[in-house]
Amino acid sequence: MSAHTPLPHDAATLHVTGAARYVDDIPTPVGTLHLAFGLSTIACGKITSIDLTAVRAAEGVTDVLVAGDLPFTNDVSPSIHDEPLLAIGKVHYVGQPIFLVVAKTHLLARKAARLADITYAQTDALLTIDQALNADSRFEEGPRIYTNGNPLDALKSARHRVTGTIEMGGQEHFYLEGQAALAQPQDNGDMVVNSSTQHPTEIQHKVAEALGMPMHSVRVEIRRMGGGFGGKESQGNALAVACAIAAQRSGRPCKMRYDRDDDMIITGKRHDFRISYTVGFSDSGKIDAVDFLHLCRCGWAQDLSLPVADRAMLHADNAYFLPNVRIESHRLRTNTQSATAYRGFGGPQGVLGIERVLDHIAYSLGKDPLEVRRVNFYRDAPQDGVTKPTGQETPYRQKVIDCVINQLVDDLAESSDYKARRAAVDAWNSQNDILKKGLALTPVKFGISFTLTHLNQAGALVHIYQDGSVALNHGGTEMGQGLFQKVAQVAAQALGIPMERIRITATDTAKVPNTSATAASSGTDLNGMAVYAACRELRSRLAEFLAPDGSGVTFSEDKVWHNGTARDWCDVVKSAYENRISLSATGFYKTPEIKWDRIAGKGRPFYYFAYGAAVSEVVIDRLTGENRILRTDILHDAGSSINPAIDIGQIEGGFVQGAGWLTTEELVWNDQGRLLTHAPSTYKIPACSDRPDILNVALFDRPNPIETISRSKAVGEPPFMHGISVMMALSDAIAACGATYPSLNAPATAEGILAAINRVKV
Ligand code: MTE
Ligand code: MOS
Repeated sequence: MSAHTPLPHDAATLHVTGAARYVDDIPTPVGTLHLAFGLSTIACGKITSIDLTAVRAAEGVTDVLVAGDLPFTNDVSPSIHDEPLLAIGKVHYVGQPIFLVVAKTHLLARKAARLADITYAQTDALLTIDQALNADSRFEEGPRIYTNGNPLDALKSARHRVTGTIEMGGQEHFYLEGQAALAQPQDNGDMVVNSSTQHPTEIQHKVAEALGMPMHSVRVEIRRMGGGFGGKESQGNALAVACAIAAQRSGRPCKMRYDRDDDMIITGKRHDFRISYTVGFSDSGKIDAVDFLHLCRCGWAQDLSLPVADRAMLHADNAYFLPNVRIESHRLRTNTQSATAYRGFGGPQGVLGIERVLDHIAYSLGKDPLEVRRVNFYRDAPQDGVTKPTGQETPYRQKVIDCVINQLVDDLAESSDYKARRAAVDAWNSQNDILKKGLALTPVKFGISFTLTHLNQAGALVHIYQDGSVALNHGGTEMGQGLFQKVAQVAAQALGIPMERIRITATDTAKVPNTSATAASSGTDLNGMAVYAACRELRSRLAEFLAPDGSGVTFSEDKVWHNGTARDWCDVVKSAYENRISLSATGFYKTPEIKWDRIAGKGRPFYYFAYGAAVSEVVIDRLTGENRILRTDILHDAGSSINPAIDIGQIEGGFVQGAGWLTTEELVWNDQGRLLTHAPSTYKIPACSDRPDILNVALFDRPNPIETISRSKAVGEPPFMHGISVMMALSDAIAACGATYPSLNAPATAEGILAAINRVKV
């Protein structure tokens, strides 16, 4: 039995000994060339002249390319072909690639890239949400609006109303391994590309386009990433395409990796949002209606901004039933990096919006925020293992049939001793003038599936070799999240063999074609099912080989059982081979039952929901705004976990990353659009010392009532939103410093907290 076992990550030893091989570690052939981009130094304007004489003359430089030198399509966009690899006439942000240097070493390429003499006719840049809104600079013609019920009338007739606004910043992915690619030309013009990417098929597609070749001439391989977090869904395209073009031109292998500063300056980040709200509610805090305005800063190119902004709208309810609701979303185009996917994919921004609303309602009524949250939760579904409608639907008309949030929150409130600690925090605050404490419990309900329905498919290719060993291929990519180990556990379970018999191989577009990005947390759901399908096929071939109709043959304990007798797995495989039984099979899976109309905002975009909740306790210094997380307790629903150790790791990591987004991680651009925080010296991700002194994480161990692989649930992104409990606890502590609602913005840095304290004082 391998499913539901807490095995370590398959590469854990390689990771911690430094032996795990990333793209930059692949030994390169003699003569490999290295690439660097020359970047725009202004945010918006026309290029009036480019003099690259000094670049070409620089030591080690073998070639320099501008847009006009590109042989075919000059585009690296994952969506609407609006993102040239090299700028054509105009530039749109500080950091946009204008030319490409090819040189003998990485350092020489970077040095030469600084020597260009480029002049511009600069025009006014749109950098902020307000500037973009005033200029009507946007993607899609107008705002997207989803409504349900009769929000405007219900707001008017509500007993209480509050309005407010929350700003939330973006977030740098800060994957430990930066973006990297290596392209090696083959005979006949074919290209093999190693790319640090969550989306090998997209790399293959963009490289093929750029080289003017069919996709079958390009093979993309990725064994692992040192973190992706959404930042490698589309942002690797530019490096892979640049390498492929330079390799085609030179006939030599070409490699590119961004240094950290370049990575932060060139690539897109999480979308920052401003969310405004008007909410009407009863004396108990029950919401009658809410009207949201989402303003989303997308940067200069469309990239994945539309589905990101959609997902923010789809999470505007979080775990709360909103009988009357209106959500208006503006996708604003600005002269900044093109914002992209980042863990949660817009969901966290939408969830933070409604969590702020709940916090604000509770403050205005003088109630414990947990009580107000509880009166608004969706009803739990009956707990008999089957799904039944509860009569409630989301703002986008999906029936909520799997809700567990009430039970889960009750369990967490109990295990974390919420009630007593609430009283203790209040008592502390009444006795202490300088250090103030805060406590908050926040829930998460996160929709699982790609909202672009056709992406919910996956393929697998499983080989059994004649010695009984198994090679496992599927379309998912490994970025540290443990996908490979979980899927291997599915295969081991299905074939009844130990993990040692299974080799997890690099993701390769030549083995499994037309894959979706490993994203939307659906890696295990999709690829696990596809691998299971392939294993089922192999099992039935072996069974039919042993028994005429294949009946009564079972696979377990490294043996194949038939009529009460067992034969060794390796034995059976060997004789199946000798009897010319095919020992290789593909598997395919597509998520059933989903259907979504993103324009109307109606349907069932999600196959199911993942749930969870977190309680955080913080302390702040009223005089400086400095703060600490004292304790966090998390209860998270991963269904019947395939690997509880890996899932708990995802929950811990997601929480810390979410807390980082909302506290210390601040992106600052100057008034010329230059990113000032482009290195760890100025951009602060959480350090080990920032984690809570006490961190208790537990799984809400209950099978998914919806039919998923081993009845597990996706776990990659949902726990990110547990970081919101920290932000709400900080707000609670600030509220204890004054007499008005803190209206805390994110990130709640020490400076931000101090400013909020000063605001509530007056
Ligand atoms: N965990 C690690 N260690 N590294 C990562 O890059 N990415 C997250 C999440 N957890 C990430 C991670 C994101 S954004 C997603 S969508 C999922 O993992 C993707 O993997 P899965 O679908 O296999 O969960
Ligand atoms: Mo994750 S943001 O869906 O790569």
